[in-house]
Amino acid sequence: MKNGPDPMRGFSPDIFAARRKRVLADLDGSALVLCSDPDASGGRHRPDRDLFYLTGVTEPGAVAVLRPGGEDGDFVLFVRVRSPEEERWSGERFGPERAQEIFGADTTYGNDLLSEHLPKLLAEAEGMYFRIGAESPLQSLVMEALQAARLRGARKGVGPYGIIDPGRLLDPQRLTKHPDELERMRWAASVTVEAFTEMLGAVRPGAGEWELEGILDGAFRRKGAGGPAYPTIVGSGANACVLHYVENNRSLCDGDLVLVDAGAETDLYVCDVTRTFPVSGSFTAPQRVIYDLVLEAHDRAIEGIHPGVTVESIHHTARDVFIDGLLDLGVLAGSKADVIDTEAYKQFFPHQTSHWLGLDVHDVGDYAHAGVSRVLERGMVLSVEPGLYFQDPLEGLGVSDEVEGSAVMDDYVGIGIRIEDVVVVTAEGHEVLTAALPVSPDELGGLVGGQG
Ligand code: GLY
Ligand code: MN
Ligand code: MN
Repeated sequence: MKNGPDPMRGFSPDIFAARRKRVLADLDGSALVLCSDPDASGGRHRPDRDLFYLTGVTEPGAVAVLRPGGEDGDFVLFVRVRSPEEERWSGERFGPERAQEIFGADTTYGNDLLSEHLPKLLAEAEGMYFRIGAESPLQSLVMEALQAARLRGARKGVGPYGIIDPGRLLDPQRLTKHPDELERMRWAASVTVEAFTEMLGAVRPGAGEWELEGILDGAFRRKGAGGPAYPTIVGSGANACVLHYVENNRSLCDGDLVLVDAGAETDLYVCDVTRTFPVSGSFTAPQRVIYDLVLEAHDRAIEGIHPGVTVESIHHTARDVFIDGLLDLGVLAGSKADVIDTEAYKQFFPHQTSHWLGLDVHDVGDYAHAGVSRVLERGMVLSVEPGLYFQDPLEGLGVSDEVEGSAVMDDYVGIGIRIEDVVVVTAEGHEVLTAALPVSPDELGGLVGGQG
């Protein structure tokens, strides 16, 4: 550890303590149990985001228990015990003593004592906040502890009676970012922008989609990021219409557009950017028509972001730009109201405009409550990623025969364009964290390496 990263990734312990204080205040008589996966033998461990958010702990095999007024204190931590033999294979561990000092738990145990201590910690709790579904051996231990605590509690007529997902307490907190979290997201954005710029310079006819993927993912690591936050998408030609295309096994052709969707993860915080650009550096006329429409939807949606507006209104802004544009082009027919009513626009714009970002790419937090869209607040971070996709063939997508057979569709079939940026809601409006990467067709085309 001495030469490695700060165990708390540069965050002050006070930030984690303040988060725990808020959760403890909301726990009432219940306990919260958060686990990280045990050692991934040979693979890279993915720290549990909720555990990190509340404690700073990223070690595999850790369990945190928060229980207001518990006899071992409010915050009990279980970590792997020291073991020269195991550490020889998977590296140094904190061990309970050092973990207690670093992470500020009231009590710390070795995780070999989980089955002994967990039932006691859960005893007489009214409920338990715990995520069910993780394929972790720790899960069965926690469930056994819950059953043991329940059996003991039955004698006195006390719980724990229910299991509730921790997201109920944590998601709303995670939704608005602390300035120190935004600092990590700015770093993720700057690494992503630099990597995209490098990748764009290598674009030429004959280059493999996999080469662009390799440049991006390699640049993320070279610049100190943990790596790609999700599998990098490089879709050339009609592959751009496949929303989750990750094969990346086609060579770029002159005249193609390429849709690249990638983002770095830095100190567990992520970025998520999409640019679509011509291999030659210059758009054909039909490509440019669609690009301009997507860019207008992107710009208008971003302009509308400020505290007090709903997530749904951002999506509707992009959707309405598309509907107006596609009606003008003759791609959609009928009245705007009809197109909204029938959702005919979804043939070309099938996804939402935004998702939250933070410790996860599709970060936690509801977009609506009881059917009412969430209102944006300062510190929330969201993507803006409108796209139009003219998949080939169109059959099966509900496109009318008239439109499908028309000359106008011939111009656009096979085009897929998305433009995606990361936006933080500020006190007055918004800040685009990824604004340094151009979106204007001329500037973007100018970065493309071009001829091979
Ligand atoms: N790259 C995942 C997304 O854009 O949502
Ligand atoms: Mn996204
Ligand atoms: Mn994306």
